[in-house]
Amino acid sequence: MTPLAELLAERIRRYGPLTFADYMRECLYHPVHGYYSKAEQTRFADYYTSADVHPIFGRLLAGQFAEMWESLGRPEEFTVVEAGAGVGRLATHVLDFCATKLPAFYDSLRYVAVERSAPRSEQAIANLKRHATAGHFAGSAEIPARIAAGCLFSNELIDALPVHRVVVESGALKEIFVDFRDGRFLSATAPLSTCAIAEYFATQGVVLQEGQCAEAGLEASDWITEVGRRLERGYVLTIDYGHHAAELFDDHHMRGTLLAYQNHRVSEDFYVSPGEQDLTAHVNFTALETWGKRSGLETAGFTSQTAFLLALGQGNEFADLYDEGQTEAERVRARLQLKTLIHPEGMGERFQVLLQQKGSVRRGLTVCGDVSRPD
Ligand SMILES: C[S@@+](CC[C@H](N)C(=O)[O-])C[C@H]1O[C@@H](n2cnc3c(N)ncnc32)[C@H](O)[C@@H]1O
Repeated sequence: MTPLAELLAERIRRYGPLTFADYMRECLYHPVHGYYSKAEQTRFADYYTSADVHPIFGRLLAGQFAEMWESLGRPEEFTVVEAGAGVGRLATHVLDFCATKLPAFYDSLRYVAVERSAPRSEQAIANLKRHATAGHFAGSAEIPARIAAGCLFSNELIDALPVHRVVVESGALKEIFVDFRDGRFLSATAPLSTCAIAEYFATQGVVLQEGQCAEAGLEASDWITEVGRRLERGYVLTIDYGHHAAELFDDHHMRGTLLAYQNHRVSEDFYVSPGEQDLTAHVNFTALETWGKRSGLETAGFTSQTAFLLALGQGNEFADLYDEGQTEAERVRARLQLKTLIHPEGMGERFQVLLQQKGSVRRGLTVCGDVSRPD
């Protein structure tokens, strides 16, 4: 039993089974024992993200943010809010690149790194002191209440938001709760804890089959609506792995998409070592679009990371991949890292990019031309 397992078992003994969303929230975000509350270094043992692969990911994004700024008519202040910014690795890549290569945009840029985990946020603030002193960076636990003009960006945030789990039993939608009996955690089905779960599926026209398990990402839906409320004019750019509802809840996903990651091993043992393994569920892009519309976010495009990065990098043949003074061996390594980001069998096709926009924009973005609109 991990320390968090002891706490959760005691909570269940006193108050009854937990929704999976509550269980997942504690496992990932408990202030002391949560997976994301621990030292960031340990996570490379479990997973890495595009931002960890090579700074080119952030450099290409910097170019995208600059184009957004242009498309909004070069507002005096352009705010990039990165939600789930971790220790600020991507923020460093974006801001360093803007400061040296895009000085006019950098003058207008205010980058806010939003991070729920206090130790990670503190690390981000320490790592980005130079840009903070120059007035271009701030760390925050919350998305700013008002973003006059800018872009709300996230990479691998939504898959880490807590989800409810459901299953269809004898034709009825039931919720899968987490119980603790005979010294171990186990799943127990019962009526839904909130009617918002039934509404979640009905709104998207999703009818699950007998025996099918699925996740309801209520927190992600509320999150995107709130983001739309706070953004007055600009874009929401989401990069994550997932599908539209028609695919996410089809025959190929009868067990749902929830997975546990530990030591680069993937499993469905969600109850092993609470707080010491990562838990993720595939993102439902239909839900992000549907709940985004409620606060004025219109879908501008949807594509794979492959197409997105190619559209951003092909113009100058990925010249920004290289740093001055690099040896040929280092340049070869950089090309291999780029391949990891772009190759369809690497991260390229696994990750999807959703672009939403709100308010008047002067012209579309280059990537929108290559981005197919979903039905
Ligand atoms: C999988 S990590 C991705 C980190 C980073 N975006 C990257 O690409 O390396 C997810 C991060 O989102 C943070 N997070 C989760 N929910 C959040 C929320 N509601 N607001 C801000 N950060 C959140 C977690 O603490 C964690 O650092």
